[in-house]
Amino acid sequence: MAPIKAALLGFGTVGQGVYEALKTHREQLQAVLGKEVVIEGILVKDGRKKREVDEHVLITTDFDEILNIDGLEVVFEAIVGEEPGFTYLSRALDKGCHVITANKVMFARHGRTLLDKAETRDRFVGFEATTAGGTPIIRSISQLLQVNEIHAVEAILNGTSNYILTNMREKGLPFHEVLKSAQELGYAEADPTNDIEGHDAFYKLMILSELSFGETPKWEDVERKGITEVTREQISVFKDWGYKVKHLARIRRDRDQFISSVKPVLVDADHPLYGVEDVQNAITIDTSLAGKVTVQGAGAGKLPTASAMVEDLTYVLQPHSVVRKKKVEQHAANSSEDTNFTS
Ligand code: NAP
Ligand code: HSE
Repeated sequence: MAPIKAALLGFGTVGQGVYEALKTHREQLQAVLGKEVVIEGILVKDGRKKREVDEHVLITTDFDEILNIDGLEVVFEAIVGEEPGFTYLSRALDKGCHVITANKVMFARHGRTLLDKAETRDRFVGFEATTAGGTPIIRSISQLLQVNEIHAVEAILNGTSNYILTNMREKGLPFHEVLKSAQELGYAEADPTNDIEGHDAFYKLMILSELSFGETPKWEDVERKGITEVTREQISVFKDWGYKVKHLARIRRDRDQFISSVKPVLVDADHPLYGVEDVQNAITIDTSLAGKVTVQGAGAGKLPTASAMVEDLTYVLQPHSVVRKKKVEQHAANSSEDTNFTS
């Protein structure tokens, strides 16, 4: 059977993770999808760097070459910043590909546009990896809590910040030493400003807000603070008192109003996120029927993030997606019958 042809945009921590996961979990993927998944092309910024990939793989700095791959079905995106990621994914959807992204900066800003475009073309946009790495929060909200009303979300959404705060508290290490190790481990971005100043958690919170409430507050109304002003001395005093500093992203909707912030907060042992340590992320969703639901897992890193992207792939290409597609077609047919009836 012909393989599923895919391309990767970006071959850093996440891109390499996806490439590796597709190889190490080849059999599992084949069992689920009934076909092999093959990366045919990889887009990079620096064409001179040596890449450890199979011989047949096209390595290019020219996105047109990626789009021209014959029979391309899926584009994974793991590059940095709003652009060129948004333009590339728009063009990939126009070309008829499904797209799967890890790029939260881009998705927080342009996610709605991509989703709308995908819908009109019966394509899929996977974005599980944008928020909380390998922790399956996107699909938990969008598919498992469809009837519940969501009242509030409280979360640890930046793995780097949680890793730094944990190591400052438990090992007494200085901020910059732990940040360096977070970069070496592939948790922090190459420019870690977004991580430590709270922008990264903010973008993820806006993605969760859109998913939970169908809208976001005005971005400028959200209080945002990072962890750069938290000192080892403060952490040590709070530790003696039985508290931890956690970088929390919170949003609650009260009628038409949002109360929302991203900032360091003192929590005691009774708080549901007190025990979330190192690179872990966790999200507590307050719902109308299920009560409080907490999902926890690795919030950053090569393989957890690749996991989210590869699981998105199985979702779009599995037979049940065909059932979903048929339902959509059936619905469209019914709607047009209705229209005929009333006209
Ligand atoms: P990274 O290690 O810095 O890798 C970025 C990759 O993108 C590199 O291969 C780079 O090419 C390529 N690239 C950058 N700009 C490009 C451009 N204009 N055109 C083509 N290629 C370009 O970053 P990463 O950690 O893998 O993160 C990738 C994305 O995933 C980011 O949006 C990040 O926020 C998100 N993310 C990361 C994690 C994580 O744990 N690291 C988790 C979830 C989501 P060169 O190799 O030639 O430099
Ligand atoms: N730099 C991000 C973090 C990667 O530390 O959470 C995951 O989005």
